Amino acid sequence: MKNLKIRLETESDYHHVEELTREAFWNLYFPGCDEHYLCHILRDHKDFIKELDYVAEIDGRVIGSIMYTHSFLLSDDGEKVPTVSFGPIGVHPDFQRIGIGTALIEKTTTLLKQKGVPAIVIYGDPHNYCKHGFKNGLDYQVSNMEGEYPLGLLVLELQPGFFGKKKWKAKQSSVFEFNPQEVIEFDKQFPEKEKKHLYSQELFKMNIRAFLKG
Ligand SMILES: CC(C)(COP(=O)(O)OP(=O)(O)OC[C@H]1O[C@@H](n2cnc3c(N)ncnc32)[C@H](O)[C@@H]1OP(=O)(O)O)[C@@H](O)C(=O)NCCC(=O)NCCS
Repeated sequence: MKNLKIRLETESDYHHVEELTREAFWNLYFPGCDEHYLCHILRDHKDFIKELDYVAEIDGRVIGSIMYTHSFLLSDDGEKVPTVSFGPIGVHPDFQRIGIGTALIEKTTTLLKQKGVPAIVIYGDPHNYCKHGFKNGLDYQVSNMEGEYPLGLLVLELQPGFFGKKKWKAKQSSVFEFNPQEVIEFDKQFPEKEKKHLYSQELFKMNIRAFLKG
C-alpha cells in the first residue's frame, strides 16, 4: 500500500487511537468494549513499552494501532526471562483486511528480533495470529501461572530454539486487571454507540473457556 505509513504514536494521536480502537472492538467480545480504555491507561503504566507504540496512518489519518507491555516467563528451574506482549491491536473497521494489522505486527517483530527479545507472548484469537507464526503455548511448554494451556495463550518464538526442554509459566502485566466500572465512566467521553449482542461474543465465551491438554 503506497500511502500507508507505520510510525511511532505521538501525543496528538492519543484520542484518535482510542476512537479507532473503540470502533474496532465495539460489540466484538461483549456488548460494548474496554480496549479503548486500556489504550488510555497503558501509556502511563510502568509496563508500557513506548518504543513499540506504533500507529498506521493512511493519507494523514490514523487508522491502526499496536501497543506493547513488558511481561515475563518463569521456568521450572527458576529462570526469569523478560518477554513482551501486544494488545490491544486494532484497525478501524473501514480499513480491515487489507494488510494493516500485518504491517503493524511485522514492523514491531522485526524491531524485537533486532533487540534480541526471545519471544512475544499474548492472549488473543488464534485465527488472527497463526498466520504470523504464533503457536499455542503448549507447543513450547508455556502455560499460564496456574499451569494451564488456554486456547488463546499464544507464543511467537523470536530467537529459534529459545524454549528448549524447560517448562515455562507466562505472567502478563497487571495493567489488564482494571475495574469495569472505570470503563463505563471513560466511555462517556465518546459519542453514544449501541451495545448489542453479536454471535462473535458467544464464540469468544467458548474460546476463553477452552484449554489444550498438557
Ligand atoms: C485483527 C485485526 C487487528 C487484524 O488487522 P487487519 O488489518 O484486518 O489484518 P490484515 O489485513 O493484515 O489480515 C487480515 C486478513 O486479511 C487478509 N488480507 C491481508 N491483506 C489483504 C489484501 N490486500 N486483500 C485481501 N485480503 C487481505 C489476510 O490474509 C487476513 O485473512 P484471514 O482473516 O483469512 O486470516 C483487525 O481486523 C481488527 O482490528 N479487528 C478487530 C479487533 C481485534 O479483533 N483485535 C485483535 C484482538 S485478538
